[in-house]
Amino acid sequence: MSTTKGLEGIVATTSSVSSIIDGVLTYNGYNIDDLADYATFEEVVYLLWYHKLPTKEELESFTKELNGYSAVPSEVLEQLKTYPIDKVHPMAALRTAVSNLALFDEDADEMSEEANRKKAMKLQAQMPTIVTAFARIREGKEPIAPKPELSYAANFLYMLDGEEPDETSIEAFNKALVLHADHELNASTFTARVCVATLSDVYSGVTAAIGALKGPLHGGANERVMAMLSEIGDEDKVEEYIHKALENKEKIMGFGHRVYKDGDPRAKHLKEMSRQLTKITGESKWYEMSVKIDEIVTSEKGLLPNVDFYSASVYHSLGIEHDLFTPIFAVSRVSGWLAHILEQYDNNRLIRPRAEYVGPDKQAWVPIDKR
Ligand code: ACO
Repeated sequence: MSTTKGLEGIVATTSSVSSIIDGVLTYNGYNIDDLADYATFEEVVYLLWYHKLPTKEELESFTKELNGYSAVPSEVLEQLKTYPIDKVHPMAALRTAVSNLALFDEDADEMSEEANRKKAMKLQAQMPTIVTAFARIREGKEPIAPKPELSYAANFLYMLDGEEPDETSIEAFNKALVLHADHELNASTFTARVCVATLSDVYSGVTAAIGALKGPLHGGANERVMAMLSEIGDEDKVEEYIHKALENKEKIMGFGHRVYKDGDPRAKHLKEMSRQLTKITGESKWYEMSVKIDEIVTSEKGLLPNVDFYSASVYHSLGIEHDLFTPIFAVSRVSGWLAHILEQYDNNRLIRPRAEYVGPDKQAWVPIDKR
């Protein structure tokens, strides 16, 4: 038996949701650059789930159905208020609340295709409601109900702030959602597929995926990028900080990627958004610092920024609390998780790899009083 640490390079399934071929990311064959420039997030969700771009009528009816599910069961909202608010990270709150949603869905364990598609709709619609409700509850504010006439991106910002966002913010947030929606067999998506391949339910698959996304080597990196930028604080201090971190063999959050060695195609879009948004907010220093870090890490380590690096200054410029960055990633990526979950059910086989045993062999049993 031979092993590959971290399953690097192993092709574990076939999929028609998204692909990374020669460094080019596509969703169902559509280049991410075109989707970032032209698509609404709702169109992308439709594309991922139905493997085609919707017509105008299809998109209207899909969006209407999605919006119809955005209210979260009152029991789940009430329980959010009982979490130890000052200690709980919003990703932990989201993981618990999504698991909790299953308890209030009588179809949670119903496995027909129709029931699973309905649960996908509910999860996609309700995760923004949960994240924004938790963000408000911990500030002593009441959650805000979604407005069905607003887009997915606009609704998230509205439910967070209580004010309808401006067009620039909606456009930027929509683009960030599109860019994070799916990414082939990333760690959280693989987790979701492993979970539902046991024929467990959709809620379990998404709960497991949230747990995987939370880690700093995956989605949790974006929050840590902002923590690093805040700690550095000033462009003049970048060089010293990064050199010291590299000397200490610390990982610079937001750099490197298991699959892309010549750069993450999503990063350039987020970089440009960061440039524009930080200019608007009058806080260009976050962008300037990011560019300087990028130059040093690229030239000295040969590592390029990934999707998480510039998304930090983008979300910060939209006035979003830093510990909500990863939950926002989840609100977008749940579309990809759900596409993969549906695909897994459609052509399922239990995912059960092997481990090469490297422990001691032929041990003789020792009674407890002789150990
Ligand atoms: N900073 C400094 N050094 C790094 C970094 C980094 N960000 N990333 C990789 N390296 C170094 C490692 O220390 C290692 O060096 P060594 O061979 O001298 O020990 C070498 O590059 C290979 O790194 P691995 O961690 O083995 O690469 P792997 O493919 O397993 O990991 C990963 C990819 C997890 C993304 C890694 O680059 C990393 O930890 N980056 C920082 C966290 C991050 O930004 N995560 C988000 C990824 S994108 C996403 O999930 C949305």
